Amino acid sequence: MAELSPSLGAQHAAILGIGSYRPSRVIPNADIVEAIDSSDEWIQQRSGIKQRRWATEDETVQMMSVAASRQALERSGVDAQQIDGVIVATVSHMFQTPAVATAIAYELGLNRPAAFDISAACAGFCHGVALASDMVRGGSAKYVLVIGVERLSDLTDVEDRGTAFIFADGAGAAVVGPSDTAGIGPVVWGSDGEQFDLIKQKEDWRDVLKQELPAMPHLVMQGNPVFRWAAFEMAKVAQQTLDLTGISADDLDVFVPHQANMRIIDAMARSMKLPERVKIARDIAEQGNTSAASIPLALDRMIEEGQAKSGDTALLIAFGAGLAYAAQVVKVP
Ligand SMILES: CC(C)(COP(=O)(O)OP(=O)(O)OC[C@H]1O[C@@H](n2cnc3c(N)ncnc32)[C@H](O)[C@@H]1OP(=O)(O)O)[C@@H](O)C(=O)NCCC(=O)NCCS
Repeated sequence: MAELSPSLGAQHAAILGIGSYRPSRVIPNADIVEAIDSSDEWIQQRSGIKQRRWATEDETVQMMSVAASRQALERSGVDAQQIDGVIVATVSHMFQTPAVATAIAYELGLNRPAAFDISAACAGFCHGVALASDMVRGGSAKYVLVIGVERLSDLTDVEDRGTAFIFADGAGAAVVGPSDTAGIGPVVWGSDGEQFDLIKQKEDWRDVLKQELPAMPHLVMQGNPVFRWAAFEMAKVAQQTLDLTGISADDLDVFVPHQANMRIIDAMARSMKLPERVKIARDIAEQGNTSAASIPLALDRMIEEGQAKSGDTALLIAFGAGLAYAAQVVKVP
């Protein structure tokens, strides 16, 4: 009987480089409060957001992804021709098909890699890192480009009090490849589909098209239940991730939670009893909630500002629509 050759990869995988792209248009709270009968003070107090960035016409999902990827490739020292997998996490590529990953790979001049999109909302980047790590270690790819990118401004109703001040645009990218030591720990991921309706596109496109005046089915969110779920359930997931990785909060240098709300970030840090010296990502103040792009953007800012150093141990944890979540401990490249 014929035996099949097994797929064999590297013993360990790591993030080798990170890159980011922040859109040029800075939108302070003052610019959006009138349409939602709100105030800069309320928004800062309830969410920690001072400003966000919204993409211009030219700053497309593809354009922002390519810019972030070029930076990640350059910083990783990996030759673009060696990339044999591209994973794009996004909910704001407006084509049902094909995947934007193939167009990004082509524009980057990559060597016809496997390229596909994943839809896991704000948890998308952490899902992508987990998949990439498994691909490198399983032998289905050697170097994988993971991109988290969003243009949520296209999907946001600027008159919706519950979302208009939260969602934003941007892209982050990471090159994942083989490593001598473990640079990406085991993932803890899951979903709670009972809460499918808490954050979602308002309507199915087919229903929209039946309407007399079809309009974009914007994102809608029940903020309060999401807040409570994230603050309580995600601290438990963070602890499970540390346990599975075989470390404790004391071993962390950096904490990079999804940038959804500063109060959720603080609540998680408190319930995890993070030591004071652990640096916490707070990119949301300047950037808003960029969904799949939020973790790489936040980590990249920490690296650029010297808060996260190469070799540091960082906990990444992301959660969002689905509800879906994913977390892992990584070594900062
Ligand atoms: C959206 C969010 C900031 C709202 O904060 P909140 O404290 O839950 O606010 P609530 O919805 O309970 O509303 C509280 C009050 O503020 C008012 N309010 C709501 N939106 C407002 C706005 N944009 N500006 C001013 N007031 C507002 C409400 O009417 C309510 O008034 P009332 O007390 O007189 O009834 C918060 O729920 C949140 O961040 N949720 C999690 C979102 C998240 O993580 N999403 C991402 C997952 S990817």
